[in-house]
Amino acid sequence: MHIVLLGPPGAGKGTQAQMLSMAFDLLHVATGDLFREAARLGTPLGLQVQAYMERGELVPDEVTIGVLLERLKQSDAANGALLDGFPRTVAQAEALDRALAAHDQHVQLAVYLKVPQIMLLARLSGRWFCSYCGSSFHSLYRPSKEEGICDRCGHALHQRPDDRPETALHRLEVYERLTVPVLEYYRQQGILKTVNGDQSVEEVQRDIAEAIGNREGSVSSESSARASD
Ligand code: AP5
Repeated sequence: MHIVLLGPPGAGKGTQAQMLSMAFDLLHVATGDLFREAARLGTPLGLQVQAYMERGELVPDEVTIGVLLERLKQSDAANGALLDGFPRTVAQAEALDRALAAHDQHVQLAVYLKVPQIMLLARLSGRWFCSYCGSSFHSLYRPSKEEGICDRCGHALHQRPDDRPETALHRLEVYERLTVPVLEYYRQQGILKTVNGDQSVEEVQRDIAEAIGNREGSVSSESSARASD
């Protein structure tokens, strides 16, 4: 099963993807994480993408599509993936569809996490990340038990440079301009499910899990109907 998680910066895609990938045994693939790791390691890809990320711009489609499709070719992605932060342009969505179609696969569900803009800036400015396991916390909404320390693995927490208010605002503008059309792309395919992201983490997770569960049911009844033809 291939599921895409859509929504503006700070909508909760990473928080939800981490929990849902465990619950549904799906590989979590986040292009932002792949780029940050490359930048941390100083690889040629990292050097290429760092400036875009620092400015809050999208990394060019040809680079991003190449990285994502390469990741999906690895054996741990054979059963599908939960895509977090991809696609972010219609060109990326089309490239994903073409690549999956070549293997007789497709995106089953696109979940749009809808959150009012005023909440997004508050979420980004209070966000803390574990430098080791990637867990995400928030100083107000999801504080770690010990300040500055990850509950899950005990390593130090840090903030992302692109969460500075001026860069975060620019990321939201880029989202409106380039990523909002992706919602329409999936709406036209009839696979877009809008989830209210302005609820507790657990309530959002419940709603997404329900959407995935409904979709799984419809996928298996579609395939058994096909098998009985
Ligand atoms: P990326 O890392 O993908 O960032 P983003 O999409 O801007 O999303 P965020 O990670 O900021 O937010 P999120 O929705 O995951 O929210 P989170 O769960 O952390 O991309 C970074 C950069 O990489 C881009 O700007 C671009 O340069 C590049 N890039 C990546 N993918 C690309 C692509 N496909 N094409 C081109 N360039 C690409 O939650 C936020 C905070 O809120 C956390 O503190 C969390 O604890 C808290 N929170 C979460 N849910 C709730 C809730 N329900 N209630 C209260 N608080 C909550």
